[in-house]
This record gives sequence, C-alpha cells and structure tokens, in this order.
Amino acid sequence: MKQGGSEAAKRAAGESAAEVVEDGMVVGLGTGSTAAHAIRALGRAVDAGLDITGVPTSFQSRELARECGIPLVDLDAASVDLAIDGADEVAGGDLVKGGGAAHAREKVVDASADRFLVVADPTKLADALSHPVPVEVLPVARTTVADAVRDLGGAPSLRRAERKDGPVVTDNGNLVLDCDFGTVEEPAPLGRALAGTPGAVEHGLFIGLADELHVGTEDGVTVQDL
Ligand code: A5P
Repeated sequence: MKQGGSEAAKRAAGESAAEVVEDGMVVGLGTGSTAAHAIRALGRAVDAGLDITGVPTSFQSRELARECGIPLVDLDAASVDLAIDGADEVAGGDLVKGGGAAHAREKVVDASADRFLVVADPTKLADALSHPVPVEVLPVARTTVADAVRDLGGAPSLRRAERKDGPVVTDNGNLVLDCDFGTVEEPAPLGRALAGTPGAVEHGLFIGLADELHVGTEDGVTVQDL
C-alpha cells in the first residue's frame, strides 16, 4: 500500500471534496485516512447546519461518522447522490482500492452514486495500475481463487492481520488475497475475469466508476474530471 502522502495533502483533498456536498444530499462515506478527512469536514458542516445523510462503506466509516454527528442510513433505504472515497492508486479513470479491506462495500456504494469523487494525495497517482489488487474471497474459496489468480498471471498473497494471529477478516466475514499482477495494461478484462471467479466476492479494480479526482498537496488542491 502506498502510504507516502502527507496528512496535510490528504486533508486538503478530503476537505475539497466535502465542499461539493450540498444541503439535502445522501452522501457515500468512504473508508481510509483520506476519506476520513472528508467525513470530519462534513461533520463540522453538519454542526454548522448542513442537512445531509451519510451511507457508510465500512465499520470504520460508520464509527467515524457517528462520532462526527452525521445522520446515517442504510443503502437499501436511500439512493446516493454523491460518494467520496479514497484510493490506493489512480491511473486515468481507473483505481485500485481495498487497502483497508473495505472495497466490496465501497464499490457497492460508490458505483451506486450519481457522482463519485476520489480523494487522493500525489503519491497515489500513476501512469498505469500496478498496485496489488485486493480480492475479497469467501473463506472456503481461498485456495481455488488463489489458483485462478495464478492462472491469470497474478501472485496472490493472503492478507495477514496486525495485532492478531491469522488473516484479515473483512466486515463481511471474508478473507483478502492481495494479487500482484505487475503493471496492468488492460484493467477491464482483468476485472471481468476476477469478477467471474467463483468464490471471489469483490475485487479492488474500480474501472471507470469515478467522476472527479481531488488531489491534495501541501499547497492546495487540483480537481479534474475523470
Ligand atoms: C479502503 O479499503 C480503501 O479502499 C481506501 O479507500 C484506500 O486504501 C485509500 O486509503 P487511504 O486514504 O488511507 O490511503
């Protein structure tokens, strides 16, 4: 995972995206350290009178949103106007996500949004995707999905937990294989192949889903359409 970005850059990106949110919106609340800055900014705006409802993408974003006083709703009871979420890597309009193992719910929420804003610092930007692709798998399918990933030219590695023996277990009770494909020249067919693998719940390739990219730096923010 690329962790090189400064907190100031992440904060600038998150706060820039939060400024796009308007009164009355249902907002998808992403996961990770950059999206957390957007959630905190939205919490401050709610304190100041902004009327929004959040749809969290993970246990973590739900907890933070609650702390920040953002009213929440489940996805099956609302439709998302705007989603704000981070990324592990951004190349053109495509992303790798899942560094926090939240990409399955993130993809459901982000893809359902009318508009999906990506927040990132400059260390996330690349010419082509080469970050290992997280694949959430049913526990029973760990070895069969790993074999399928090898057949696709990837090197799968079971994500290990920190401060717990054994693997990372996702919010959905599944495991994560981090799959190194080297440089992915054509992400769309790889995404389709992973999505079609029995037992693979969701992969972290977000192909053409994002609408706008907010890149924060120590000095400001650049915004571009994707
Ligand atoms: C969560 O599973 C991820 O998709 C995050 O959105 C991604 O890892 C970016 O996180 P940071 O903003 O902490 O780098």
